[in-house]
Amino acid sequence: MANPRKIIIDTDPGQDDAAAIMLALGSPLELDLLGVTTVAGNVPLSRTQTNARIVCEFAGRPDVKVFAGCERPLKRPPVTAEYVHGPTGLDGPELFEPTMPLQDMNGVDFIIDTLRTHEAGTVTLCTLGPMTNVATAFQHAPDIIARVKEVVMMGGAYFEVGNITPAAEFNIYVDPEAADIVFKSGVPIVMMPLDLTHKVLTLKARVEKIRALGSRAGVALADMLDFFERFDVEKYGSDGGPLHDPTVIAYLIKPEIFSGRHCNVEIELASELTLGMTVVDWWRVTKREKNAMVMKDIDAQAFFDLLTERVGRL
Ligand code: BDR
Ligand code: CA
Repeated sequence: MANPRKIIIDTDPGQDDAAAIMLALGSPLELDLLGVTTVAGNVPLSRTQTNARIVCEFAGRPDVKVFAGCERPLKRPPVTAEYVHGPTGLDGPELFEPTMPLQDMNGVDFIIDTLRTHEAGTVTLCTLGPMTNVATAFQHAPDIIARVKEVVMMGGAYFEVGNITPAAEFNIYVDPEAADIVFKSGVPIVMMPLDLTHKVLTLKARVEKIRALGSRAGVALADMLDFFERFDVEKYGSDGGPLHDPTVIAYLIKPEIFSGRHCNVEIELASELTLGMTVVDWWRVTKREKNAMVMKDIDAQAFFDLLTERVGRL
């Protein structure tokens, strides 16, 4: 087996972010998690950095390095989503004060440092929230852009359009300027939009399989997913809510269960009505340069089998 792929997870936990972190921690043969950087998103930074540590402790991995990054989007006031994730951002299981430390270094500096000190083309950035940390790192240290292997990100939408506004997906809407910097940077991007994640539904039977693992991580994750789906089940009228963020990690482990198209993606920054929209040239009607692999389809059952199996290893 090849060496595990080196990754940084940049995140705003969030129950679905928690599933992503657990999936990565349960997959040490494929993934070497260098650190977790947190950002303001679903809830303020003070909570996302705490939540990331809680998730690592649920997973039995207090050794993971967790960093706090940017407290607010580049140019706009923060927008949060407690109405989806609950007041803590991680509602569902009984939460606790984590005992593992928060690293002293700022998350943005950790991203810069890691890319500079590892061989170029070996570190993948996995973004599960607004892209403020990565964009800030690119702005402060443009030399690192060419050193990134790939940015694999959850965000945006095209056919499904918006979840926070009629036109925009949450992660991009919260910090559209940051997303714009990353999409224009020339870095290779793999994008998991709502078009894909809305096919990954937390059906009852799937969540119960995770609960039946009986482990601390499995039960905590099932409690989180039960809470998380409430809002979406009501909103979409579906059986189970979409599980967004762990698709990023699953792609690194089993890319063969995904399919999509290499397209140009631009971020809307000016219009009040469609701010943060990801304008995907899916039909290739422009000559704009292709800058992202936009995923659209997934074998959802294979994804849940993988998630369950890997959380079972924690
Ligand atoms: C994204 O927004 C957040 O609420 C989720 O954690 C996910 O990253 C989905 O739009
Ligand atoms: Ca997230």
